[in-house]
Amino acid sequence: METNIKDAIETMMNEHRLIEQVLGALDTFVEQLFTSVPEDRRQVAQFAHFFRSFADYCHHGKEEKELFTQMNKSGFPMEYGPLAVMMSEHTEGRSHVGALAAIGQGSGPLTYAEKESVAEHARAFIPLLRAHIQKEDNILYPMARQGLGAAALTQLNEQCVRFDNEIMGQEMIHNLKTLASELTVNFPPDPAKMAAPAGCAGCRGH
Ligand SMILES: [Fe+2]
Repeated sequence: METNIKDAIETMMNEHRLIEQVLGALDTFVEQLFTSVPEDRRQVAQFAHFFRSFADYCHHGKEEKELFTQMNKSGFPMEYGPLAVMMSEHTEGRSHVGALAAIGQGSGPLTYAEKESVAEHARAFIPLLRAHIQKEDNILYPMARQGLGAAALTQLNEQCVRFDNEIMGQEMIHNLKTLASELTVNFPPDPAKMAAPAGCAGCRGH
């Protein structure tokens, strides 16, 4: 039925806002990492779980399986151009999250070398995903709204709702949003670092 159909692009933009908050929390966590963070390994595992399960599986999952597929059917190539760039950035992000997850699976407090590795991957991943989100919000999503016809947009909306309900499950989404809240409470993002990156100052003003 139509009553539960949401605007998929709006949903994905809302997910961006949540992901940005957790990126800010990760940034704060890394700032504190070399002083003292209780249960530091568990925190790394929690961040990895959020970015793998929510940012990648849930959010990038909808983009790759639904949005990009619809855009491709409407004539946007997958092999080059914006979709190819977005896909390659998703892949790059996965390698950083995979490294964090591997460290999170170890035991005992983090060693100094592991802290260095966490900091290195996080400091590469944070700006990568922030810039990626800006490109999607300001370029790719508007391109999709313009380039997809009404029927394709409706189909996208229906498929994204189905993805969340049937592939992710609302309980899992709820749990991951709760985890995001815990991480941002425990490691409050620095508002000064949450502003739009340089070069994109006017993007949000439209
Ligand atoms: Fe995205």
